Amino acid sequence: MSKVAVVGAGAIGGTFGVRLCRTHDVTFCVRTPFERLRVETPSGAYDEPVRCATVPAQVGRVDWVLLAVKGHQTAGAAPWLKALAGPGTVIAVMQNGVEHVERTAPFAHGAEVLPMVVNCPADRLGPGRMVQNLHAGLQPQDGEAGRGLAGLFEGTDVKVTLQKDIVTALWTKLCANLAGGPVTALTGQPRGVVRRPDVAALARTLVRECAEAGRAAGAKIPDDIHETAVATIAGHPPHLSTSMLQDRLAGRPLEADPFTGAVIRAGEKYGVPTPATRVIHPLLMALNGGGEGG
Ligand SMILES: NC(=O)c1ccc[n+]([C@@H]2O[C@H](COP(=O)([O-])OP(=O)(O)OC[C@H]3O[C@@H](n4cnc5c(N)ncnc54)[C@H](OP(=O)(O)O)[C@@H]3O)[C@@H](O)[C@H]2O)c1
Repeated sequence: MSKVAVVGAGAIGGTFGVRLCRTHDVTFCVRTPFERLRVETPSGAYDEPVRCATVPAQVGRVDWVLLAVKGHQTAGAAPWLKALAGPGTVIAVMQNGVEHVERTAPFAHGAEVLPMVVNCPADRLGPGRMVQNLHAGLQPQDGEAGRGLAGLFEGTDVKVTLQKDIVTALWTKLCANLAGGPVTALTGQPRGVVRRPDVAALARTLVRECAEAGRAAGAKIPDDIHETAVATIAGHPPHLSTSMLQDRLAGRPLEADPFTGAVIRAGEKYGVPTPATRVIHPLLMALNGGGEGG
């Protein structure tokens, strides 16, 4: 039995954390506590009594931190990490974006930071209530910590696939996020807006810039990803939302800095022009007055 802390008990933290409640010693580190965690999944519902902590003084060092706040909320979770993490702890960063290690390491206190791709469309309905829409999968970086994560989820229905080329996996996922997130958030419209040829052209440009920055960072990304990623979003039911649109409509800060901000930073680092991303990024940041953690 491992000691596990879930920091950020939202759609992802709740969906993955609930699977560990019966086999491990799990604490949910939250701002709004709940007594039971209910997660509806395609194959049935979990409904587990849980332990929540609301201040870092209530927790101590753990073996595993599942860090599932959004990327731009990582710095805000620093007090939790200070109490939970140290040498011997692994922080499993369950976020989108490509800067998991750079973003988390300053708050890791000697813990290992494990980057991964999270495959699991899920929504948070309220504190302790989530709905998981498709299968749950994790692709952690291959290595000892990644194998440890596979062991942690052993016996659950979470498919853990060790990822030898984490750079490619993370950048490919970011391309998918950028195909729909920014244009839906900026227009305030669900995925169907990508069926407009002009909006699709902008989305393709954002994905192309992301792919070019990613390739410069070492990712092996198909040449036509801007076509396929945007066609995928356009093929979804038009009323479907995106995470970025949901945050905008709820008045929450957007996960823009870890997405478009990361593309701009990589472009600067590797000398790849990102002109469209540079136009879109400040608009996304401005939507919520700059966002948590800038
Ligand atoms: N949802 C998906 O379908 C999906 C799929 C793949 C990857 N991802 C990625 O997974 C990550 C998590 O996304 P999500 O959808 O799970 O987000 P979410 O539902 O908004 O959950 C984030 C949670 O973090 C909590 N939180 C933020 N700051 C905190 C702090 N300082 N202390 C304690 N709790 C804090 C929030 O609490 P409050 O309720 O108090 O605000 C919220 O419950 C993101 O990087 C996202 O891009 C999401």
